[in-house]
Amino acid sequence: MFYSKIFAQGFLSLPLYVNKGVEGSLCSLVAELLLRAPMASSTSGPKKRLSRFRQVVRLLLRKSNSAPPPVKSTDDHKVAIDEKVKSGGEDINWDSVGFGLTPTDSMFIMKCPIGDKYSEGQLVPYGNFEISPSSSVLNYGQGLFEGMKVYRREDGRIMIFRPEENARRMQMGAERLLMQAPTTEQFIHAVKKTALANERWVPPYGTGTLYLRPLLIGSGAVLGIGPAPECTFLIFASPIGNSYKSGINAFNLSIETKLHRASPGGTGGIKSITNYAPVFESVKRAKAAGFDDVLFLDEETGKHIEEASSCNVFILKGNVISTPPIFGTILPGITRKSILEIARDCGYEVEERRVPVEDVLAADEVFCTGTAVIVTSVASITYQEQRVEYKTGEDTVCHRLRTTLTGIQTGLVEDKKGWTVQLN
Ligand SMILES: Cc1ncc(COP(=O)(O)O)c(C=O)c1O
Repeated sequence: MFYSKIFAQGFLSLPLYVNKGVEGSLCSLVAELLLRAPMASSTSGPKKRLSRFRQVVRLLLRKSNSAPPPVKSTDDHKVAIDEKVKSGGEDINWDSVGFGLTPTDSMFIMKCPIGDKYSEGQLVPYGNFEISPSSSVLNYGQGLFEGMKVYRREDGRIMIFRPEENARRMQMGAERLLMQAPTTEQFIHAVKKTALANERWVPPYGTGTLYLRPLLIGSGAVLGIGPAPECTFLIFASPIGNSYKSGINAFNLSIETKLHRASPGGTGGIKSITNYAPVFESVKRAKAAGFDDVLFLDEETGKHIEEASSCNVFILKGNVISTPPIFGTILPGITRKSILEIARDCGYEVEERRVPVEDVLAADEVFCTGTAVIVTSVASITYQEQRVEYKTGEDTVCHRLRTTLTGIQTGLVEDKKGWTVQLN
């Protein structure tokens, strides 16, 4: 009787103060205390009851301040890792590497007070690091990221693809967000060091790649709204699987008519961390309706396609390949730039122009490009209530372009353009 009163008066409010994840353990702790409590509670006086109540609360709060509960894995963000994958090296079960995070041995880190030079930089074990609660990245979103891959060749050696392009894109973003980016030389040096230190995590030829995530963050402390006095550059890595092998060989997209990804004069043209959380809602809605991703429209007219949440888009009509131009609202993808060149070399007519929705719906093929998706066919696009299907499979222009690009990236096709950098 007494304990049920405690529940009613005290514990109902506790979940407001504690991490949701510990609620389950709080309940079991309460149950445990209740079981251990003397049965003759009705004979205890109010003082004794109060002290018992305080004891329970103290225990609960101590419990809630202890280590957080393990993160549960989801389809999109695999955190629980197969034991074989976790250990690295020969016994890695590469078949179980998907698209979630599989932490590797080392990450690279270096810092730079604004207006000064970057420190030497060093490899450290992968893991959490300290950051000021008043850092500009945490408070004002002053941060950029990049995405690159380390490819395993058939002969076992490893390569990276156009790293100077990622370095330049980060420098462009840093200029826009008032940060100091590493020089191209520093950037490539850091990428090479990270790739080589984690070489055993580069999947065997044909099974996947080692994804590298360079980050540039305003790590220095500020209180008033403004840029950080110090930047931190770091690179971490995670092996990822092969999208075709995982059965993702064509996307079903919906055109987003409610929300926009970017606006003129905004940050859509750089890889700012602030561009990504705002698309979660559109993507979640699309996934709930059975689509893989959304295509965003331009904010000014709402009539032209721009890009998907994390890849560029192309349409094919006859012999003409078109993609929206880079005017500041679309990310200048490195895969996009490479595919434009490869397509020209293959004899297609290539256009960078505004692409109205009607042209998309009338296209022969649609495909997406990006480091993660490489070049992936779009099987269907749904706009309002209308669903249009496109050609997919091996007899497509998309497949031809993809094969050429991945051939260059893995050393199967001669790299006449100097795009690849061999690391060992
Ligand atoms: C919004 C957006 N567009 C396009 C791309 C494709 O760029 P890239 O080909 O350089 O990976 C990405 C991925 O990085 C992206 O996040």
